Amino acid sequence: HGSTQKEIRMSADIERRVGNLLNNSQTTVTASVSVPSLTTNQEGKMSTSTAKSVSAQQTDSSKEKLNVELKQKQENMQASDSLKAMNSFRENLPAFKMKSTFLKAVQENQVLVVSGETGCGKTTQLPQFILEEEILCLRGATCNIICTQPRRISAISVAARISAERGESLGETVGYQIRLEAKCSAQTRLLFCTTGVLLRQLVQDPELTGVSHLLVDEIHERGMNEDFLLIILRDLLPRRPDLRLILMSATINADMFSKYFANAPMIHIPGFTFPVTEFFLEDVLEKTRYNIKSEFDNYEGNSSRRRKQQVSKKDPLTELFEDIDIDAHYKNYSTAARKSLEAWSGSKMDLGLVEAAIEYICRNEGDGAILVFLTGWEEISKLFDTIKANNFLGDPSKFLVLPLHGSMPTINQCEIFDRPPLNKRKIVLATNIAESSITIDDVVHVIDCGKAKETSYDALNKLACLLPSWISKASAHQRCGRAGRVQPGVCYRLYPKVIHDEMLEYQLPEILRTPLQELCLQIKSLQLGTVGSFLAKALQPPDPLAVQNAIELLKTIGALDDKEELTPLGRHLCTIPLDPNIGKMLLMGSIFQCLNPALTIAAALAYRDPFVLPLNRKEEADAAKRSFAGDSCSDHIALLKAFEGWKDAKRSGREREFCWDNFLSPVTLQLIDEMRIQFLNLLSDIGFVDKSRGIHAYNQYARDLEMVCAILCAGLYPNVVQCKRRGKRTAFYTKEVGKVDIHPASVNAGIHLFPLPYMVYSEKVKTTSIYIRDSTNISDYALLLFGGSLIPSKSGEGIEMLGGYLHFSASKSVIELIKKLRGELYKLLNRK
Ligand code: CDP
Ligand code: MG
Repeated sequence: HGSTQKEIRMSADIERRVGNLLNNSQTTVTASVSVPSLTTNQEGKMSTSTAKSVSAQQTDSSKEKLNVELKQKQENMQASDSLKAMNSFRENLPAFKMKSTFLKAVQENQVLVVSGETGCGKTTQLPQFILEEEILCLRGATCNIICTQPRRISAISVAARISAERGESLGETVGYQIRLEAKCSAQTRLLFCTTGVLLRQLVQDPELTGVSHLLVDEIHERGMNEDFLLIILRDLLPRRPDLRLILMSATINADMFSKYFANAPMIHIPGFTFPVTEFFLEDVLEKTRYNIKSEFDNYEGNSSRRRKQQVSKKDPLTELFEDIDIDAHYKNYSTAARKSLEAWSGSKMDLGLVEAAIEYICRNEGDGAILVFLTGWEEISKLFDTIKANNFLGDPSKFLVLPLHGSMPTINQCEIFDRPPLNKRKIVLATNIAESSITIDDVVHVIDCGKAKETSYDALNKLACLLPSWISKASAHQRCGRAGRVQPGVCYRLYPKVIHDEMLEYQLPEILRTPLQELCLQIKSLQLGTVGSFLAKALQPPDPLAVQNAIELLKTIGALDDKEELTPLGRHLCTIPLDPNIGKMLLMGSIFQCLNPALTIAAALAYRDPFVLPLNRKEEADAAKRSFAGDSCSDHIALLKAFEGWKDAKRSGREREFCWDNFLSPVTLQLIDEMRIQFLNLLSDIGFVDKSRGIHAYNQYARDLEMVCAILCAGLYPNVVQCKRRGKRTAFYTKEVGKVDIHPASVNAGIHLFPLPYMVYSEKVKTTSIYIRDSTNISDYALLLFGGSLIPSKSGEGIEMLGGYLHFSASKSVIELIKKLRGELYKLLNRK
């Protein structure tokens, strides 16, 4: 019991750390999406309101004056002593040697592809070179450089870094803009933004008016947004001959991008890295003497042990260890041994092994930071806790353990990038964000679990999965390279060589493995023609079935009409930077005066579940969650009640105990609370909420749980399962995949019979079986009134939903009434 107490306390500790990071970020200006937007920084647009009274000549002369001022300021700054160290750091980066080649190529070509080893200075230097050059050539007042980043955290950290390199504060010449948050000003000339923000900007300004240079970073990652942006840009370039496009990539497959842009010239920045010694699982096991066998037994469980006995008398692992004894590295294992090892390392991540590897390095190897690649936040926080709690290597004060995750609001620049204090070892626990977006120079030891959480999309079963899966060889190589920035390094791969040999060369692009509904909405709102023919122009076009599913879904929820054109609802959903289902839930919540619950649930669905899952106290945690749910049979209601409870506890200063007792993450709750405010601003921007009336005006039914369930149904439809009674239990069926199970973490997992005949759910995931996550039991009335696009069905005989999968029969007059009500709802939702 004592150790679990500690574990939980450590959880609270990591939360506090992240909380501090959060507080640091509160200095940033939070602005609704429309406020300091991309185009407002640019002189042309900015001055339009004042331009009327000022003659063109005057504007020109003031611009000239500003150009001279900017140049003067830059020259003074660069010469000042305070930037000496910074300048010499910059001059030592490989990118610096290519400065003039790069600038010349930018001047002479409309499109340029730049590749270079991670850390050579692409992101921080190339946009900065352009900025400096523009200012130097007296174009400082009119240049407008935009650089896109796939992740929020890198947009912020790079903008902050460049500001520091220029001796300015963030938001002056260099700023950033990410979803729902910006730090930039009228003087901003170089703006870092997420690719998503730029895509939304394109809706208002398809020509990117006034943008002089656009740099698209990390294109090698093949994110969906980046692939999508490239299609748009390829079409835009002929219309914007003055626009310069620079594509930046790690040294992976750069020529593919060049080919896509009519053989655009390529520049490669040669980098220098020290050699990195690679070890595979076999070697790591030998070095750490980690007892893989007991872990393996745990994993395999009884059934497979029985199976094993039937197949072979000899324990395959014993066989394996015999192999290792003979030759750790190059021995070909027997098939059985190989299979076991693959199965074992393919199962759940073994954090014990990671810990053993860290410990081995700390005890036996030289100084230098350790970078651990894990798959996600849960693992990071679990490992963080154990390292802290286990009295790690005797003295925790000797270690600086830092989490690094893409959805962290911001990172503490000094801690992550700087050398740690003397006698302290930096251990960074990261996801694949540290693979190529964020470079930590002093890393000497890399521990690579070989996996990353990756979405995959099964178009046939309309099933999205987010599962840890093996990375590609290209990624494994990238991760390994992180160890050789300052001196020869070592990479410990926690998977056998056979697995490495079978990894894909490159990861599948995201556009081929995610549901496409948000993308389809964007294509429609950008008026890019029919979705199918537009996406056929992609670097690697997605499966037509996936496109068709997305369009079908958008029709089902009423965002597209029969002709695949945007409905008014669809147009509203385009302006909400969220999954269309979550967007619809927000709109319905505001219309039906259920705003508070809708905001909370939407924020949690868009961000993450605040319930934490402690390993050893799972039952207590489940009970806490169930008590929030009461008899609602709803995970969403449990979440809502937990959030409300937290709000109350916070007001009375009992936040810590409340979260502790109820297994809730205060950081997640805090973020959900902040997102609620941002969502509210969004709804107010698009006219669904009139703030002057006060939020109470939109919450008349906020406490009516039946109403909340109806709003959930409206938002989550067509994620519906039928609950069918099978003896003393209930079985659940979906239209696409037939029988499914309730996720074990759901409050509905232990319930045998449900009061109502349907269940809506947030997500269907495939792990060991197909589970529905976060479900809510709903009535047929909720479904009849709020499900679907709200377009009344045409058949006179009853009402059909989910393409005929669900059929409701009722008397003619009831059907007429329901149709009328649905018609009215449809009007409300589609008001212009
Ligand atoms: O984009 P690329 O991977 O080529 O490199 P970069 O992100 O421009 O980083 C160049 C150098 O600046 C690396 O040595 C980073 O460690 C350093 N850097 C930093 O110290 N602080 C930051 N916020 C970002 C980069
Ligand atoms: Mg970079």
